[in-house]
Amino acid sequence: MSISYNIAVIKGDGTGPEVIDEGVKVINAAASLYDFSLDFIDYDLGGQRFLTTGETLPDSVLEELRHANAIYLGAIGHPDVPPGTLEQGILLRLRFELDQYVNLRPVKLYPNVETPIKNKGPEEIDFLVVRENTEGFYAGSGGYFKKGTADEVAIQESINTRKGIERLLRYAFEMTRSRGKRKKLTLCGKTNVLTYAWGLWMRTFEEIANEYPDVHTDYAHVDAICMWFVKNPEWFDVIATDNMFGDIITDLGAMIQGGMGIAAGGNINPAGVSMFEPIGGSAPKYTGKNVINPLAGILAGSLMLETLGQKAAAKSIEDSVVKTLSNNIKSLEAGKMGYSTSEVGDLVAKYLS
Ligand code: IPM
Ligand code: MN
Repeated sequence: MSISYNIAVIKGDGTGPEVIDEGVKVINAAASLYDFSLDFIDYDLGGQRFLTTGETLPDSVLEELRHANAIYLGAIGHPDVPPGTLEQGILLRLRFELDQYVNLRPVKLYPNVETPIKNKGPEEIDFLVVRENTEGFYAGSGGYFKKGTADEVAIQESINTRKGIERLLRYAFEMTRSRGKRKKLTLCGKTNVLTYAWGLWMRTFEEIANEYPDVHTDYAHVDAICMWFVKNPEWFDVIATDNMFGDIITDLGAMIQGGMGIAAGGNINPAGVSMFEPIGGSAPKYTGKNVINPLAGILAGSLMLETLGQKAAAKSIEDSVVKTLSNNIKSLEAGKMGYSTSEVGDLVAKYLS
């Protein structure tokens, strides 16, 4: 009997459902070619549920998600919900509770995709950001003192644990090795100012590097990285960084690879349940119009299959996205693709081999 996976699907808000529907279409088509199957189980979470019931992520749902083989997420974000509510209540809570300590974000310029960077092409823009995903400023440590008075103090602390840093860096070293490209791992930090946090990161980095003599190591400050992403993206192979810096540099990364319409990511717990998502938001103004670009969602599906161990199927989806980009799509922008959302899904499914 062929292998089967239970996939929890959180289509979420805005254009999330339209994008995920195309992802599921393509994943199912790839599964039948490569002889495995998936059971997709929908979980109704997001802005609409919050507005109707006041719930973000009920404990009972979280318990069920713990038993999935993976989670496939569309988008979370609703214009009528106060900022932070859904982000913290659903997205960040899932990352923390499921201990998805790696946020994996490939920055890859595909052929025929326009980059704003002059004179750089797919050869030059192909690297991987390994972002810590459970600590740093995101840990929610801090508070107010004398709130609402003229003497008010706000403290927001960055939590960096030896264990958290070490497991993230080990993952990054392993990734650098298995990617087999330039075998270069760059640590992105701020050792010249944030000396406690980055002191610990640097010591841990240097220690683990001894175990990987075949991996070239390098360090760059986060501000300099922003400069080099634009000036010399070809310098990078794998970049490891903390939660906050990773959040910021991967938005820049998404722009140089052609925009949010193509950027996918995975929230990985190597020993548990991982969650895959397009990096872009819920794009409320395009909701229900069948014009949003589903490629980032489809590529998140490819990343999911790769992580589940279905490498050939994952590669085949990526290859079909490349064909769709080369043969069909005019622009990645919503409404300017020359095809509808569902037609793009059909094309990618058709090119699978
Ligand atoms: C991301 C997002 C989230 C983050 C927000 C929505 C909480 O920007 O996945 O990068 O900051 O991690
Ligand atoms: Mn972000």
